[in-house]
Amino acid sequence: MPALKKGESLFLAQRGAPLVAPSILSADFARLEVECRAVMEQGADLLHLDVMDGHFVPNLSMGPALCHAVRHHLPETFLDVHMMVTNPGQFIAPFARAGADNFTIHVECDEDIEDLADAIHAAGMTAGLAIKPDTPFEDMAPYVDRFNLLLVMSVHPGFSGQAFIPEVLETTRRLDGMIRSDQHIQMDGGVDPGSAVACREAGCDVLVAASAIFKGDDYGASIAALRGD
Ligand code: DX5
Ligand code: ZN
Repeated sequence: MPALKKGESLFLAQRGAPLVAPSILSADFARLEVECRAVMEQGADLLHLDVMDGHFVPNLSMGPALCHAVRHHLPETFLDVHMMVTNPGQFIAPFARAGADNFTIHVECDEDIEDLADAIHAAGMTAGLAIKPDTPFEDMAPYVDRFNLLLVMSVHPGFSGQAFIPEVLETTRRLDGMIRSDQHIQMDGGVDPGSAVACREAGCDVLVAASAIFKGDDYGASIAALRGD
């Protein structure tokens, strides 16, 4: 599958073959343009940008300026922003201006989930809803209909390089049984070619990986293995 272009609204399409989304959190930040181009040229479908505020999670990462820079150098690439922040609402407009295509909030954030979904769509982006491994599924279930993407965290958010938590596959199966064919399930955290098998079987069609791609020396082989090729 060729790289999807901005404007093709990747997360509005029907679910299909698994998509691979490299998380640039583990890329070499000083060579970011080169790293982003390399994974896209070697079979990735989109880029995943992890935004952290030092409050929702104990780490800091990137903001709208970095998203804008990636958009500038890769005008065709679908950019998926994962907001691990306590108050995401204030960042919807800045990320939309910075060229983000999808904006994912956490169900555990401090703001009204339905209002956020409406604001994200009004800003011209698709909307994702993420859940941490220890949060009861009942907290997410009432909002599922309003989102294009449901993100199941398979590590405790904040850092790359953690081990996959298999218990979250149950959340994925429950989502798989209730979503429409135009909604997507994303797994994020500790996804490698081994754990990706169970993710795909449980219904995930968007696989995020940082370490499994950027810590290796053959990005194309890692991306193909994640997809199950
Ligand atoms: C974790 C982030 C993930 C992370 C994944 O808080 O949301 O996207 O970068 O890293 P790996 O694939 O190394 O677990
Ligand atoms: Zn992420």
